Amino acid sequence: MTDAVTTSLEAGVLTISFARPEKKNAITDAMYKVVADALEDAGSNDQVRVVLFRGEGDSFSAGNDINDFVAIAMGGGGGMNVFRVLKALAHFDKPVVAAVKGAAVGIGTTLLLNSDLVYVAEDARLSTPFVNLALAPEAASTILLPLAIGHQRAFSMFALGEVVSGSQAAAWGIANAALPAAEVEAAALKAAQELAKRAPRSLQLTKRLMRDAARLWSQMERENEAFGSQLTSPEAREAFTAFAERRPPDFSKVS
Ligand code: COA
Repeated sequence: MTDAVTTSLEAGVLTISFARPEKKNAITDAMYKVVADALEDAGSNDQVRVVLFRGEGDSFSAGNDINDFVAIAMGGGGGMNVFRVLKALAHFDKPVVAAVKGAAVGIGTTLLLNSDLVYVAEDARLSTPFVNLALAPEAASTILLPLAIGHQRAFSMFALGEVVSGSQAAAWGIANAALPAAEVEAAALKAAQELAKRAPRSLQLTKRLMRDAARLWSQMERENEAFGSQLTSPEAREAFTAFAERRPPDFSKVS
C-alpha cells in the first residue's frame, strides 16, 4: 500500500490524486495498483458517477517512475499493475475528467487521451517522449493521438519528444480548455460535478458508442508487447542510464 495516490468520493465524483509531488508525481507500481483497484471498483460501484484525475504539487505526472523501468531493464523484474490500469481505462464507460498543471509526461499525457473532459493550465507541458527513452507508446495513444492531432504532430511528440503547451493542446483538440493554472482544478471539478448530475446510463451509452473499447484494448495489447520487449533492450538501458546520470543518451553504439 502507498499513500502516493489518494482517492476520495464526494457527490458521485471519485477523485484520484497523484500525491508524490517531490518526484513530480512519477508513478510507481504500487501507485498503479491503487489506481487499478480504484478504477476496477468504480466501474461497478453505483456510488461513482465520474472519475476525476489530478495531481498534488506543481505537476500532473512525470509518467512512469523511471527507476521501476531500470529495475526491469536490469532483470530485477517488476510489477505489472500498469497493465491493469490500462485495461480498466480501455473498458471504463463512466466519464473521466482530468485537471492538468505543469508536466504531464508519458502516461501523464496518454491518460488524457483516455479521458472525456480535459482542463489544462495554459503553461502545462505535455509530452510523450517514448522514443527518447527507447520505448514504445502505450495506452492506445498510437491510435488516439494521431486521430486527435494528425499523424505528423503525433509522430513529432512520440519520436522527437516535442513538448506541447497547454494552450497548444487545447488548440489541437486534446483539451477542452487551457486556463490560468490557478483555475484548472476548479474548472475540472465543476465539470465533473455537472456530469455526476446527468443520467448515468445515458452517459455510459454515449461513451461506449464514442469509444471502441475492444479496438483500444487490442491496440494496447500490441503496444504492451512492443513496450515490454524494448524495456530490456540495450538501447533502453542506455536511455535509463543517461537519465540517471543526467546526460543525453548516446545511441550511436547500439545496433
Ligand atoms: N521517474 C522517477 N523520478 C522522476 C521522474 C520519473 N519519471 N520524473 C521526475 N523524477 C524525479 C527526479 O529524478 C527528481 O528527483 P531528485 O529530486 O531526487 O533528483 C525529482 O523527480 C524532480 O524532478 P526534476 O527533474 O528535478 O524536475 P524538473 O521540474 O526539472 O523536471 C520533468 C520535471 C518531469 C520535466 C523531468 O523530471 C523529467 O523529464 N522527468 C522524466 C519524465 C519521463 O521521461 N517519464 C517517463 C515517460 S515514459
